[in-house]
Amino acid sequence: MNQIQTAASPATVPANSSRSQKPISLFRTLKNIRRFAAELIPPAVSKLFQEKHLALTNESKDDETVEYLIPAKRPSEIWPAFGTTEVTMLPRHLRNHLWAMPENELLVLATICKLLNPVNVFEFGTFTGGSTLAIAANTPSDTEIITLDIPPEERRSHRTGVGSDIPFDYVIGESYLGTRYESKISSIRCNATAFDPTPYQGKMDLVFIDADHTYSFASNDTQNAIKMLSPNGVILWHDYRWDDDTPECVGVTHCVNEFHQQHKGCIEILGTRFAVYQNSQWSESLSESSCQPRPVEAEV
Ligand SMILES: C[S@@+](CC[C@H](N)C(=O)[O-])C[C@H]1O[C@@H](n2cnc3c(N)ncnc32)[C@H](O)[C@@H]1O
Repeated sequence: MNQIQTAASPATVPANSSRSQKPISLFRTLKNIRRFAAELIPPAVSKLFQEKHLALTNESKDDETVEYLIPAKRPSEIWPAFGTTEVTMLPRHLRNHLWAMPENELLVLATICKLLNPVNVFEFGTFTGGSTLAIAANTPSDTEIITLDIPPEERRSHRTGVGSDIPFDYVIGESYLGTRYESKISSIRCNATAFDPTPYQGKMDLVFIDADHTYSFASNDTQNAIKMLSPNGVILWHDYRWDDDTPECVGVTHCVNEFHQQHKGCIEILGTRFAVYQNSQWSESLSESSCQPRPVEAEV
């Protein structure tokens, strides 16, 4: 059962939340250790370990060479009014952690929200709430935003797709706490793997996916997103495109490529790491014939 909680009281940015590379380095170290250990451990033992701790990890999908296979478009090709749309950004949007979205992508997210005018929004991956605040500040006053993040008490026991726990503490949604947008936002403290989308079936005009970026988790969130999507709804994935600092995001790339094969209608937003899907036909001008898939090899 999902638990909607009221927001916790505002807190200052944790001391370890500067632009530290620590979380990513830790992920990479753990991944390398896992690869090395996999060669030493007998297959039966390794299988047991994986079943217990990495139940949702699909290693093959997270380790393959990736190709960016969906069509790519500049934002103004997707939304002609993109460049002249006025948005609201707050000083709190200045980036304070590697896991928080940088300002340029928050600007894109804010603009998309202005253009879509969604009534109901669902977000996987609140973190400190920078993206949630961008959504809330750029949607109509009656828009309801539900944002999900893992409960703080599960951060240490949960195994992420790269096999670590969540290695540091943060205040969920602290960026929007105390702002006038806070009342539009409901925070769900729930592991995405245990999330039941049934109450929100067919209701969400925008689903933003930015939680665990490995393949099985991203696929699980995507399947839930499609169940929740309204007839003209839009799914937005962060980290479809990624760099060497975040190799686990290859899972998102595979997930979106696969989703596009099945459903069509995905577009990479050039100049960002976003991919977008609309739950109805894109207009003629967006027909895929004018888009060239651009295979890119990535080091994982
Ligand atoms: C990259 S951060 C989200 C950043 C945020 N959208 C922003 O732009 O500031 C990913 C978030 O997803 C959460 N997360 C990771 N795995 C999760 C899971 N299985 N269930 C729920 N939340 C999860 C992490 O704790 C983290 O807060």
